Amino acid sequence: MKISASILAAKLSHLAVDLPKYDPTSIDFIHMDVMDGNFVPQISFGEAFTKEVKSLTNIPLDVHLMVRRPEDHVPKYFEFKPYCITFHIETTHFSVRLAEEIRKSGAKVGISLNPQTPVESISHLLPYLDLVLLMTVDPGFYGQSFVASGIDKIKRMRELTAKHGILLEVDGGVNESNIKTLSDLGVDLCVVGSGLYKTGDPNTQGKKLKQLAGA
Ligand code: DX5
Ligand code: ZN
Repeated sequence: MKISASILAAKLSHLAVDLPKYDPTSIDFIHMDVMDGNFVPQISFGEAFTKEVKSLTNIPLDVHLMVRRPEDHVPKYFEFKPYCITFHIETTHFSVRLAEEIRKSGAKVGISLNPQTPVESISHLLPYLDLVLLMTVDPGFYGQSFVASGIDKIKRMRELTAKHGILLEVDGGVNESNIKTLSDLGVDLCVVGSGLYKTGDPNTQGKKLKQLAGA
């Protein structure tokens, strides 16, 4: 199980000191929750802040765009050579073209689905994808609870992604109590925000979560 740290839940004003200390054996990716105050209620940060983060760590970035018209924003993240750029299927009419553009940049192509969006909504996109980011909370805030329908949807999505060699990432409400279940279901990456930062020691907590996942 790989851990992607949602720094939205970190103490942002301490990142210049804290980020360089992140241990890549505990934290595999830095999850950048880019929010536009339109697709989701909150405005978080964008490419300027991402540039600062990039300068503070060698851990690869996992960019999660919660923005309308992602085609206007995606190219701004190419220069950071992220591991992955993920946009939401609910936010664009041009998903194939955008996926092709991301792949051409060298980043993995991720698509994300809100809890209410059916698994079938990405059937047309499967050949163009490297990763599916399944939201297990309504996006917009950290610290929410894993939705009741999440486990069943992960199972159905896992079938689809496995057939196509696509990675499965889960985002929202992941913590010590459910990470083993997610690992057993074949989830490859977990985004963890409050479940990682609540102790104030993300390196130790990341290790603990991986141990609990057992993989
Ligand atoms: C929610 C974000 C998540 C969130 C995760 O909109 O996409 O990445 O910060 O935080 P937790 O783990 O606290 O649910
Ligand atoms: Zn996220």
